[in-house]
Amino acid sequence: MTRPDAAGRDFGTPAIIQGGMGVGVSGWRLARAVASTGQLGVVSGVALDALLARRLQDGDPDGQVRRALAHFPDPTLVHRTLRRYFVSGGTDRNQPYRPVPRLGLRSHRHGQELAVLGNFVEVFLAKEGHHGPVGVNYLEKIQLATPAAVYGAMLAGVDHVLMGAGLPTEIPGLLDTLAEHRPARLSVAVQAATAGQRFDVTFDPADLLQATPAPVRRPRLLAIVSSATLAAYLARDDTTRPDGFVVESPLAGGHSARPRGALRLSADGEPVYGPRDGVDLARMAALGLPFWIAGGQCGPEQLAAARDAGAAGVQVGTAFALCRESGLDAALRRRMLARAAPGALVVRNHAGVSPTGFPFKLVHLPGTAADDDVYADRPRHCDLGYLRTPYQRPDGRVGYRCPAEPVDDYLRKGGAVEDTVGSRCLCNGLVAAVGLGQRRPDGYREPPLLTLGQDLSFLPPLMGGGDDYSAADVVSYLLGASAAAHA
Ligand SMILES: Cc1cc2nc3c(=O)[nH]c(=O)nc-3n(C[C@H](O)[C@H](O)[C@H](O)COP(=O)(O)O)c2cc1C
Repeated sequence: MTRPDAAGRDFGTPAIIQGGMGVGVSGWRLARAVASTGQLGVVSGVALDALLARRLQDGDPDGQVRRALAHFPDPTLVHRTLRRYFVSGGTDRNQPYRPVPRLGLRSHRHGQELAVLGNFVEVFLAKEGHHGPVGVNYLEKIQLATPAAVYGAMLAGVDHVLMGAGLPTEIPGLLDTLAEHRPARLSVAVQAATAGQRFDVTFDPADLLQATPAPVRRPRLLAIVSSATLAAYLARDDTTRPDGFVVESPLAGGHSARPRGALRLSADGEPVYGPRDGVDLARMAALGLPFWIAGGQCGPEQLAAARDAGAAGVQVGTAFALCRESGLDAALRRRMLARAAPGALVVRNHAGVSPTGFPFKLVHLPGTAADDDVYADRPRHCDLGYLRTPYQRPDGRVGYRCPAEPVDDYLRKGGAVEDTVGSRCLCNGLVAAVGLGQRRPDGYREPPLLTLGQDLSFLPPLMGGGDDYSAADVVSYLLGASAAAHA
């Protein structure tokens, strides 16, 4: 099932999108395994600068990262990064990882290089050995990271860019510009900014690379939205129209949209969603762009129903997050599977844990940062900073703050104390969940933080009495009955 884009290029329209899962849960191994089946494999593009730096400091034991870097069009950039971060044999496991520059309006050259290379490596490796489509997922909210990250992915030939957690109104234009290696500019939302003042982040490939690389293909943009109204808003104008949509319900893993109307909490403290939060699928279909449904769409019946409703297919996350090729730390993944088998794995949606302010699903696994005791013992520390929000200071300059940073710092920056209560450091927790957590000089190790979706009904059929399953098993499970239903 394929459909050419406006320029007549055929990127394929897969029935299944393996959702982008940060940080590093949908890494290149998972995306490659899915794309090898002909479905859309998606790497997470979030924090790939830090992941690259840490993988190099771990000595890149299987050599894959350095092998991918050898294909990057400008070797001088690669040499600089290797000199700075690569440690043959790996650093001492008690040594802290070296910091990477945090995002800011005024970009840091070596931070940009890391972002470009990190995204290049992930997409390059995901695309190897097959002809299936590969996408990269970003959070719109992390605007400061976007241009360099997208450019790195495009240099590796990424087929799709998927973007949620905000409306990607300027991304179609950004992709057009970067495909021609032209200087790009992206607006940045700054809290408490003087009315009428505009901020943006700039990125010029010519500043980074010694020679202009060969032309790259402009990837398709899929906007991840929570309603047909938002999809219609993006679709109505040539400059904002994406090439398709993923429409996601609150059952999905990771972040979700807030419920419409006033926030009400259930007895378990979860946001309560109502009929107004449902998606008008007929309206989605009427927009005339391909769309995929996400959130609890993890069975063949759901895929068949999605197609009957006019969708191209479904986007699935959790079933892939728990499969063998997932980037999750192997021991944590096994513990979750073992708990889930007797139905004892608890995944709750929380209104106040994510610094973004959006509800976020936490897996309540003992010993992780979801645990209130573990969380209370964690010294607050903001060294990764991806979720920091730019704000304008009284002196007119732009500062950055995050409700999960040390409380005094946040208050000094004008933040409200109530935002800090319960706010988890997603950056450190999610990086630790893929086995690359920071170790502090005093011996403290950042605890992992886990997220999944709330529909785990795919596990019994996929596990089938065994103790593991692969990404290809998920794809055949989803396609099996759907193919029969459409035969
Ligand atoms: C571990 C995990 C991490 C996720 N991270 C992201 C992310 O960084 N960006 C994003 O757009 N969606 C993220 N998602 C959502 C998935 O891309 C997908 O839409 C969702 O999981 C689909 O619902 P399901 O989990 O019920 O299959 C994440 C999901 C999981 C399970």
